[in-house]
Amino acid sequence: MSYQNFSLSQLQAIDAAHHLHPFTDHKELRAAGSRVIARADGPFIYDSDGNQILDGMAGLWCVNIGYGRTELAEAAYEQMKELPYYNSFFKCSTPTPILLSQKLADIAPANMNQVFYGSSGSEANDTAVRLVRHYWQLMGKPSKNRIISRKSAYHGSTITGASLGGMSHMHEQLNGAVPNIVHVMPPYAFEFAEPGESDHDFGVRAAKAVEEAILEAGADNVAAFIGEPIMGAGGVRIPPESYWPEIQRICRKYDVLLMLDEVITGYGRTGEWFAAQAMNIEADTITTAKALTSGYQPLSALFVGDRIASVLVDKGGEFFHGYTYSGHPVACAVALKNLEIIEREGLVERVRDDTGPYFRKALMGRLAGHRIVGQVRTYGLLGAIEIVRSKETRERFKPAGDAAMKVRDHAIANGLMLRATGDTMILSPLLIWTRETIDMAVDRIEKALDLAARDLGV
Ligand SMILES: Cc1ncc(COP(=O)(O)O)c(C=O)c1O
Repeated sequence: MSYQNFSLSQLQAIDAAHHLHPFTDHKELRAAGSRVIARADGPFIYDSDGNQILDGMAGLWCVNIGYGRTELAEAAYEQMKELPYYNSFFKCSTPTPILLSQKLADIAPANMNQVFYGSSGSEANDTAVRLVRHYWQLMGKPSKNRIISRKSAYHGSTITGASLGGMSHMHEQLNGAVPNIVHVMPPYAFEFAEPGESDHDFGVRAAKAVEEAILEAGADNVAAFIGEPIMGAGGVRIPPESYWPEIQRICRKYDVLLMLDEVITGYGRTGEWFAAQAMNIEADTITTAKALTSGYQPLSALFVGDRIASVLVDKGGEFFHGYTYSGHPVACAVALKNLEIIEREGLVERVRDDTGPYFRKALMGRLAGHRIVGQVRTYGLLGAIEIVRSKETRERFKPAGDAAMKVRDHAIANGLMLRATGDTMILSPLLIWTRETIDMAVDRIEKALDLAARDLGV
């Protein structure tokens, strides 16, 4: 059945009748009608009216190599013909996860030589928590089971993912989070630095919040610290350079494992394969998903560092954990082809040497001075624009989030898919963007900022 036989209003009516969406107020959505994205090509998505929109979010931080890659479709097709599915339980394996594991070990930090597969970032974080707690049991320290995370972190939407995350509205709906997970201040200088406090000092102070949480619990009761190298969904919060070295030092001092969540930052977005390499962080686990397949197939890979993996293998016996789709042959075939394309086209180096710096210059140069912009931040191909009423005092517009929604709506109407979280505009370009695509995006953001400022009467 082809969707082309349906009008937009028919599709919207069926959507409203039967489809529950993620993170959605359904009454509001159904009154407005959903935006139906019907096809996509290169850096552009097209809605069902045929409007072309430049995708500033890479789908949902995932379509790094762009849309319309027939090579990935062919890889999936060939694999489906050969072997559409077989499990990796019961001493079985299939070729594509075997080869993908080797490839992933090659590109990952040196101590990351083992991977565990799932279908989503949330699942991978569940696995990570299971493994970390299991590790300390195997080490004869079962009391070491507390996990320290940060407020405003996003680690997924399963019960474990939401509990790890620091989104208070999610916790309220959980009505009973996974116990023994605590949340400390995030390294978000724009909001939490004291007047006059240097970026360096704020980074050290934010890391100290982790040390205080360890001391409060007692190091013998703390299993791990988890963090996104750059908080994504929380608003592309780029930590001061002093933050991660301090976190690393603190984790080592108290023998607390370091879990990195690179679901957004993995596979080239920072200008290195992983932010761990860009920021020189030595982790014990690294969660990845999304751009592993550029979103063409659902697949996650949890990297398990040598320290944990050796104990799991040597002393662990059977690890009672796994998913039907762990190491799915089709998803792994697509991932292999995706990584091949990223390498062949030099996309990681391109972000590091060309588009990343250009993106920074374009956003800083053309948007930071705008009258409703309080700060612009970038790292590789991640960007954030803070919307404020006053550049001097950083006072926000009221009600919270409304001004950013206006910017977002004008951006979309002018052909750029841009996302707002709170009063922060966030950008996650595809890695295939060129300097020209960046200019096109910045033109559209500039226009959206002007129109929103006009609506806001400033
Ligand atoms: C940092 C981070 N971790 C985990 C997740 C959850 O991934 P998924 O939606 O695939 O479960 C996300 C999703 O955006 C994320 O940004």
